[in-house]
Amino acid sequence: MTTATDSIGTAAGTLQVHPGPWTRQAKQKAIQEETRAAFQTYFRKSVKTRNWTPWDDIPLHEMGERGHLLSDDTVTLIESFLGVEDYVGDYVEDSMVIVGKMRERRNVQLQWGAEELKHAESWELVLLHSGRRTQEELDAYRDKVAEHKWTMRENHPGLDTPLGVCVYAMVQERATYFNYDELRKRIRTEYGLPEKVTAEERTRGKQVGAAGAFKIVANDEIAHHAIFLQMFDIYKKYLPYEAFDTLFQVLGSFNMPALYLIPNESEMREALYRTKLYTPLKHGRYVANPILDALGLENKRALERAVQEAKHLPAGLGPQQVTLSRTGEWVIAMNAESPVAV
Ligand SMILES: [Fe+2]
Ligand SMILES: [Fe+2]
Repeated sequence: MTTATDSIGTAAGTLQVHPGPWTRQAKQKAIQEETRAAFQTYFRKSVKTRNWTPWDDIPLHEMGERGHLLSDDTVTLIESFLGVEDYVGDYVEDSMVIVGKMRERRNVQLQWGAEELKHAESWELVLLHSGRRTQEELDAYRDKVAEHKWTMRENHPGLDTPLGVCVYAMVQERATYFNYDELRKRIRTEYGLPEKVTAEERTRGKQVGAAGAFKIVANDEIAHHAIFLQMFDIYKKYLPYEAFDTLFQVLGSFNMPALYLIPNESEMREALYRTKLYTPLKHGRYVANPILDALGLENKRALERAVQEAKHLPAGLGPQQVTLSRTGEWVIAMNAESPVAV
């Protein structure tokens, strides 16, 4: 246990390391401070390296040339993602209520929302410039989206807490990244382009047409996954049982947001079935397992064990006193020489 206030230098500034005892309040304070530092690093990088607009930075002209090559299923899927992304106002509004006056979490959600708003606008532009939907059709579709309201409580019961928002977003962002990257590859095939980017695309720094749009948006999604993963790591350090229990809950019942609300739900399901873009097997292999791996767990069974055993950890342990093995066992370090497994 740290016995005196110490400090750690980070890219975002200096963090105070609190002395014990680790009361619930002390843990919450430490979570907030570390989240604030993570947000600053995220924000800096975001505004300096992912500063793009749908109207200027995606190759609209090439979409017009190649739009007729896209299959109907691809178009249906892009339209479905337009619907899911267009609930951004509800996602932000709901999370503002849930995180309340936690300023660092509020800031994360606001910046995240500012980035997310570009995605629905991008999918509208892709459909329009590909010549596959008219402006009137898109307006009508988006008006229908607006007839429903999404809330975490109704769509993902039990996750309407600050921790729940973080864990759900961590998984959802990785799933969205996976979907967009798969769709990018599918578009390249339908355009007649090789799977790997060409030398010409690499030189100009953009993939062709709609593939370029999916690349730039997918890049946002994986950055979103990374900040929520980092925030989860902070929770995990101070509140291991709550963190892993929530992750267990999210992974056990994961659904993409607003899928039941979009106007073309049944067409989307048929397109997903035919294209096999996103299946339960792919979700396990490319979404859930990489997350568990990043958190230091070898598989879902290790997560189950981590949840079960975390219940028995003494409440006042500090973050330096406990480590987690890849098989989900917690080890308490009584001192450097004598670790004790729980
Ligand atoms: Fe998005
Ligand atoms: Fe995202």
